[in-house]
Amino acid sequence: MDTKCMWDLVVMTSILMLSAMMIIILVYRKSRSCKVISRSLSTSSSHNITRSSSPPVQLVTPLGNLGWPFLGETIEFISCAYSDRPESFMDKRRRLYGKVFKSHLFGSPTIVSTDAEVSKYVMQSDGKVFVPSYPKSLTELMGKSSILLINGSLHRRVHGLIGAFFKSPHLKSQITTDMQNYIQQSMGKWREDQPVFVQDEAKHIAFQVLVKALISLDPGDEMDFLKKQFEEFISGLMSLPINVPGSRLHKSLQAKKKMVELVHKTIQAKRINGISEFPRDVADVLLKDESEKLTDELISDNMIDLMIPGEDSVPVLITLAVKYLSDSPSALQQLTEENLEVKRLKDQLREPMCWSDYLSLPFTQNVITETLRMGNVIVGVMRKAMKDVEIKGYLIPKGWCVFTNFRSVHLDENLYDWPHQFNPWRWQDKEVSSSSFTPFGGGQRLCPGLDLARLETSIFLHHFVTRFRWDADADSIVNFPTVRLKKRMPVWVKRRREEEKS
Ligand code: HEM
Repeated sequence: MDTKCMWDLVVMTSILMLSAMMIIILVYRKSRSCKVISRSLSTSSSHNITRSSSPPVQLVTPLGNLGWPFLGETIEFISCAYSDRPESFMDKRRRLYGKVFKSHLFGSPTIVSTDAEVSKYVMQSDGKVFVPSYPKSLTELMGKSSILLINGSLHRRVHGLIGAFFKSPHLKSQITTDMQNYIQQSMGKWREDQPVFVQDEAKHIAFQVLVKALISLDPGDEMDFLKKQFEEFISGLMSLPINVPGSRLHKSLQAKKKMVELVHKTIQAKRINGISEFPRDVADVLLKDESEKLTDELISDNMIDLMIPGEDSVPVLITLAVKYLSDSPSALQQLTEENLEVKRLKDQLREPMCWSDYLSLPFTQNVITETLRMGNVIVGVMRKAMKDVEIKGYLIPKGWCVFTNFRSVHLDENLYDWPHQFNPWRWQDKEVSSSSFTPFGGGQRLCPGLDLARLETSIFLHHFVTRFRWDADADSIVNFPTVRLKKRMPVWVKRRREEEKS
């Protein structure tokens, strides 16, 4: 989610660049009077931290450079993020200052962690120590009761309910049936004489799956309406936080209002008709909860907010997997053989593929794990310290942000041999470590959609490789502001003959 946070700040940065030096000086002077910023400007800032069992100790913030007044190191961060090696910003500073360093990014003094243990500690801390940090435009669009923003017991409750539902065999089986239908509709239309844009196709399919899982809406006019409004809504995530008629943020808020109305109508209909004993969608799960805190407003808002992390990430994961496989013929061959074999077996048994069949293919799962490691769909998460915090001898002062950078850990050559090489075989005999592999975050905010993401990707890959051969046009991965393929991953497909499949 932090990448979304950055969108907004890119715009902010561009404006800052255009601003005259005078404004910067004024802001700088003003910021010196502010306690938090003045603390950040000192390279040797120190604090007394009282621990319960020992006398106060003096701690210092990690080494690092706070860069230019107000702009900090944001420009360099963005220019590296746009390059072929986005981790170069981190690598340079890791060499100079160590795995944890201070910087000033997107308007905040920030401790950057490329250390697996420190990042794990940050993610496992609760809302009394660290809270999620998003830009203002994003928080305005999400609303105060969004799962992405709430903390404490309400957060644990909503997160727990959603996570348990996304893990349930019942939902996985429903999603499998739905996705097979959507794939059938999409892939049935693919032509051999024009390119197929994998990124667009995956986006279309994953949106339908997500909305069905959230509110049981089937493809049709209402789905199209929701998609259109959602696109309007998310374009405001990159906007300046100015909510006046005509502004980007205002238009997005209007779009959200229309979506919430539609969801609210669905929820009211559910209340009138009675909620089924076995919840069919996330809305049912939240409606069935006895807690009075879960009002219809909170539920409707959250249905839309849940689309933010769910909508883009799965299609990107699918597209990256197709990209890496296209560039790695031996991996593609092994994955295809594994999928054709299970298909033949199921055909002989005259059974349809079920969700556990998709998830039980070891090489396919290794391909997805490797894609998550290399692709870094979510580059890291951003938190804000609610009090002075000490981690591994480092001080994170109250009010500062912490950016836990997953990418540096996932591409660390001390943890992974030849980290820039796509090598699904590396996972064959390797345990997936909870600190050196965190594509879905960790702790209380561990992504509740992780099973869904793996299942959807497995289903897509299965149908893609068992039905088609393809030639991919050259394309490249862009990592900022979000991960995506520059040309939307065009491929020229050729349908497999029946005898190849049997
Ligand atoms: C490749 C796919 C995905 C990746 C890499 C991913 C990654 C992440 C990460 C890193 C976080 C932690 C954010 C933080 O700690 O602040 C997160 C949170 C979250 N994800 Fe995902 N996600 C994916 C798919 C999904 C899907 C399909 C959904 C379904 C709606 C989803 C829903 C959520 C929600 C609701 C949260 C917030 C949890 C909370 O704050 O309690 N994600 N995701």
